Parts: sequence; C-alpha cells; structure tokens
Amino acid sequence: MAALKYAGMDDTDSEDELPPGWEERTTKDGWVYYANHEEMKTQWEHPKTGKKKRCAGDLPYGWEQETDEKGQIYYMDHINKRRTYFDPRQAFTVEDVQVKPKRYDGNTAALEILQGRDLSDKVVLITGANSGIGFETARSFALHGAHVFLACRNQTRASKAVRLITDEWHKARVEAMTLDLASLRSVQEFAEAFRAKKLPVHILVCNAAVCTQPWRLTEDGLESSFQICHLGHFYLVQLLQDVLRRSAPARVVVVSSESHRFTDLVDSCGKVDLALLSPPQKEYWSMLAYNRAKLCNILFSNELNRRLSPHGVTSNAVHPGNMMYTSIHQSWWLMTLLFTLARPFTKSMQQGAATTVYCAVAPELEGLGGMYFNNCFRCLPSLEAQNEATALSLWELSERLIRERATAPKAL
Ligand SMILES: NC(=O)c1ccc[n+]([C@@H]2O[C@H](COP(=O)([O-])OP(=O)(O)OC[C@H]3O[C@@H](n4cnc5c(N)ncnc54)[C@H](OP(=O)(O)O)[C@@H]3O)[C@@H](O)[C@H]2O)c1
Repeated sequence: MAALKYAGMDDTDSEDELPPGWEERTTKDGWVYYANHEEMKTQWEHPKTGKKKRCAGDLPYGWEQETDEKGQIYYMDHINKRRTYFDPRQAFTVEDVQVKPKRYDGNTAALEILQGRDLSDKVVLITGANSGIGFETARSFALHGAHVFLACRNQTRASKAVRLITDEWHKARVEAMTLDLASLRSVQEFAEAFRAKKLPVHILVCNAAVCTQPWRLTEDGLESSFQICHLGHFYLVQLLQDVLRRSAPARVVVVSSESHRFTDLVDSCGKVDLALLSPPQKEYWSMLAYNRAKLCNILFSNELNRRLSPHGVTSNAVHPGNMMYTSIHQSWWLMTLLFTLARPFTKSMQQGAATTVYCAVAPELEGLGGMYFNNCFRCLPSLEAQNEATALSLWELSERLIRERATAPKAL
C-alpha cells in the first residue's frame, strides 16, 4: 500500500490491501478511515475486513501535521524536506478492539473479580458478615482497601471475624457493629450509630439469613425467618436511604436463593398475604418460610431499584450457589446431613461470595439494577419474583408493619 511504501516498508499481499477506488486516510487525532473516490463516500471500517483501526503512536521524529489552504491535512518531513498527504503513522496502525467485560462463572472466586482493583474510596456495609458467604464477601472487599462494616448480631463472633481479616492484612479497615435483624429496635439503634459516623455507604450487602429454624416469634411479634431475612433488611435500607442517596453511585446487593422458585406469596386477590409470611405455629413449615423469605428478597430488591435508581442507587439480587457448607444448615439435622453429603461437590466460600462481589463492583453494571444473578450471570427469577404488583404489595405491607411496630426513628 502507498502508505507502507512511503514509510519505507515493503507492501505485502495482505488482507488489508484495499480494493480499487479506495484510499486509507487518518483523522487529526489518528483514527483511520476509508474514502471511496468512485462512490464519494467515507467509512470507518476497512472495506474488506470490516475492522476499525487507529494509529499506534505519534508522528516520527521531524514530522509535523499541517493544514493547507483548502483545509486538508498534510504532513511535513522537515528532515528530508518532503511534503505528503499520507499520514506516516498509517504504517503503524493497530486494530481498534473493543474491551469486552470479563466473563465470570460459577468457578470464579470473589478475589479474582477484585484483582487489581483499589477500593480504598469505598465504604461497604454487610449484614451477617461474621461467617460463611458474608464473611468471605467482607474479607474480599477489605483486602482490596475498602472500609468494611460487619453488621452482626453476636459481637464475640463479629470481633473474631474482624481479627481474622486484620491478621491477614494488618492495614485492612474492618469494623464490627451490632445489628440484630430480628429486632426493629436493634435495626434502629444500628442505623443511628452508623449515621453518627457521618460516613457514606457505597455498597450495602443484605446477606444475613436463617434457614429452617423452628417457629419463633420475634419481640416485634413476627415469625423470625421473615423478619430476619426480609423485614429487618427492609427497615435497615429505609433508615439508611438518605445516606445511600448521598453516596450515589451506590449499590445494594440482596442475597437471595434459587429456593425462591418453590413458593408464592399472594392471596386470591393478588395481594401479599401476611398470614403466609408470618404464619401461626400450627401452619409453619420451616423450609417454606425460608423459600418465602428468599422470594421477598428478590421482590424487595426489584422495588427498591425502581424507587432509588433515579437517585443513583441501584439494587440487584443474587443466588450465591447451592448448598455451600456454611452455618446455614445448623438449625435442622436433616439439612446438616444433606449439606454434608453435598459438600464435596459444592462451591467454596470464595466462589459463593463471587456473584455478590460481581454485582457490587462490575463496571458494566454501573447504573443497572432490578436484576437477578447466579454464577455472575444475569438470569430470570421465577415469574412471581418478576411480578411488579407483588413487589409493590410487599413493599406496602412492609411499610405498614414498620409503621405499626417500630417506634418513630429519628432518621425518618
Ligand atoms: N449456603 C448456601 O448454600 C446458600 C444457598 C443459597 C443462598 N444462601 C444465602 O446466602 C446468605 C449467607 O448465608 P450463609 O450460607 O453464609 O450462612 P451463614 O454462615 O449461616 O451466615 C448467615 C449470617 O447471618 C447472620 N444472622 C442470622 N440471624 C441474624 C440476625 N438476627 N441478625 C443479624 N445477623 C443474623 C448469622 O449470624 P450468626 O453467626 O450470629 O448466626 C450469619 O453471620 C443467606 O442470605 C443465605 O440465604 C446460602
């Protein structure tokens, strides 16, 4: 090609050779485009290969880009006193390859997603972070410089978790705070204590849960799995809503489960039924209560996203993986047996934390929410979980429960 010849490089019979009537040109800032003299048109793509190119470097030493009296760009080689309309940089072009987001899957570890990332400007809040997936999520963020708060009901276990992280990296900024999601009063006290720190929250992970617990009413008179998994988180987000909005762009990640698929929540009128969410003891089945609470997680995340995304706060729900050997099975011997049998085939804790971490930091998810992820991939939750009317009904019910049961918080 003419440009290569001019640059003193041999032409080759490459796929880059232009068809007759075409000419390769560059813009002032080095982007290559193609002019067709017969059809009097220009385009960015090479007419044969369809590839886009740009110049790889600056003009050679002694060369200058100038504009003639007709406004056309030309190049002066001041050393050899030559003038040409061919850009000598065309000898060294590179393909313009779009950087595609990295693909992750079920084998990806949380730390792999954070590789090379500096999170020192982020404040992260994680509920139930003293064990299992929550702990690995907290650890991963902390080892990448984030200021991480572990919101846990048991301070001894929480302090041990903090110690484990700081033993690994003495500069990790990790703090434990008391939060019992089974108590609206505790959620309120936690929110007040956190607000007093005058810190932002860039990432909020609603992770804490209990599974297959025996029937128990909380001090607020609600079935405990429902209150811990859903209502406590709902109230927490209500109380920290303005902090999240001030921290925008901020992300909420709600840890749900695939088990949300095996249940529904609405009565015959299509409204979310409190009797299903917080049933009396004789109608209680612990596995069903867990599934319903996990369905609430997705509906809550979707409605939260609808309400807060216009203010720069997005929310996504995740399934971390199947039957990972955390503490979640400990309330029922049958679950412990199943989890033990499945243990050799399930994800590690690091892999379990990956989808949450992905949703919290992936650049391609900036500004995007209302989705459900599994194995770092977007997938569709159950039809019930996608239902906007159900999400709204759950939101309104949750607001009513808070209004009736919580003492007026300073923050609202
Ligand atoms: N493991 C799995 O296979 C699996 C599968 C699907 C979804 N998930 C979801 O993953 C999330 C994490 O579970 P995990 O497997 O890591 O279980 P985990 O090890 O039992 O962690 C649950 C955390 O929640 C905390 N928690 C329980 N009740 C609380 C309360 N009233 N207030 C505050 N914190 C409370 C626990 O604290 P304590 O240590 O004090 O009990 C613990 O730190 C859950 O949302 C779960 O539904 C897990």
